[in-house]
Amino acid sequence: MPGANLPHRFLDNRGGLLYIDGVSAAELADKFDTPLYVLIENRIRENYRRLKDALLKYYDKVRIYYSAKANTNLAVLKILESEGAYLDAVSPGEVFLALKAGFQPDRILFTGTSVRDDELKFLAESGVIINIDSISQLRRLLKIHVPELLSFRVNPEVGAGHHEHVITAGRNSKFGIWESDIVEAYRIALNAGVKRFGIHMHIGSGILDAEPFLLAAEKLLKIAGQIHNKLGITFEFMDFGGGLGVPYSPDEKPLSIDDFAGRMLSLFKSRVGEYHLGEPLFCIEPGRFIVCDAGILLTRVNTVKITPFKKFIGVDAGFNTLIRPAMYGSYHPIIVANRLNEPEKEVYDVAGPLCESGDILARNRVLPEIQEGDLLAILNAGAYGFSMSSQYNSRPRCAEVLVKDGKYAIVRERESLEDLVRGQRIPDWLQS
Ligand SMILES: Cc1ncc(COP(=O)(O)O)c(C=O)c1O
Repeated sequence: MPGANLPHRFLDNRGGLLYIDGVSAAELADKFDTPLYVLIENRIRENYRRLKDALLKYYDKVRIYYSAKANTNLAVLKILESEGAYLDAVSPGEVFLALKAGFQPDRILFTGTSVRDDELKFLAESGVIINIDSISQLRRLLKIHVPELLSFRVNPEVGAGHHEHVITAGRNSKFGIWESDIVEAYRIALNAGVKRFGIHMHIGSGILDAEPFLLAAEKLLKIAGQIHNKLGITFEFMDFGGGLGVPYSPDEKPLSIDDFAGRMLSLFKSRVGEYHLGEPLFCIEPGRFIVCDAGILLTRVNTVKITPFKKFIGVDAGFNTLIRPAMYGSYHPIIVANRLNEPEKEVYDVAGPLCESGDILARNRVLPEIQEGDLLAILNAGAYGFSMSSQYNSRPRCAEVLVKDGKYAIVRERESLEDLVRGQRIPDWLQS
């Protein structure tokens, strides 16, 4: 096999060494230590614009809510704020971070499930738009506050995703309001004095085929038509959720954004006309699509261990740093940042430092022959990488650095051992 494949123009092979938007991966690893997340500002902007331009070709009232859960680094939020994006938040913490990054409250849509009363109060006081997940949540909100604008998450009974854990609609899903209850939900809100409305769905994550989106959108539009018929509501916005996938393994094909945009918007425009729904905003809320391939995890090889059955590369990132392989069995492309020109001829399992047999980042991966001290770059790590990381095994969380046009800046410091005890107390009776 020849040397490593580089997936986009911000990753560059200079004499066998990896450069990330003009910055040497080795220099970043030496300067900031590993494991290290490297985020590419230009790629985040490019992904956002690719999507926005594709949608605007077919309809001019379009909004993209960046789904913050994929990556909540303040620098990432700031980049998307400056692009004019809106923001999808799923916790008061994400609302807090979005406000800190400069998003105005009316650019934030909160979609929570199992939301507490004090959280509803916080959201009402923040002035963000709330997307309701159940009639119980609606009744509790209305006791606290009657917003001018309210949205409801519908379960369109079509779910999809790269793993069972990320399918968020259909029979077994805890999310959204069923068709049988939805007119009642809007009626309660209308009677309470809510004046403006949105409607929402989110069917799952990592979807590489437009078909499930179209099936679910057809259902959502039909439900919107029924609500309009029965209650006379017109929708200010219709949000078709996130879930736009990105290929991780070589056998996956990218979702064609132009095909997605063209088919979704043609369906949208036709049904909006048919059901007399006016001219609502067409919204989507992608996370992964915008940040996934803009993030690289650099990790150093500590050990090469050869057993009678396997060759293991022991690296310094584990599922505390990137949980997707352990949690979902996900594939992430891996390249050797200091051996890009060397033939890929050895088969390795790439293992983390945690005391868990499941702490494996890749199985049976064909790579160049590895030496201790080599630097691996785990690609497509920008989404659900740092945001799902932990201190498991009492390992401080790693740092994040942002690169742009050959320059770089640290955007999250590496935690120290002291961070492991921050907030902990030893009670009096245990003090000697
Ligand atoms: C409500 C909601 N919107 C958007 C997203 C973003 O999904 P993705 O990152 O797959 O685009 C999620 C992810 O789980 C979600 O729960």
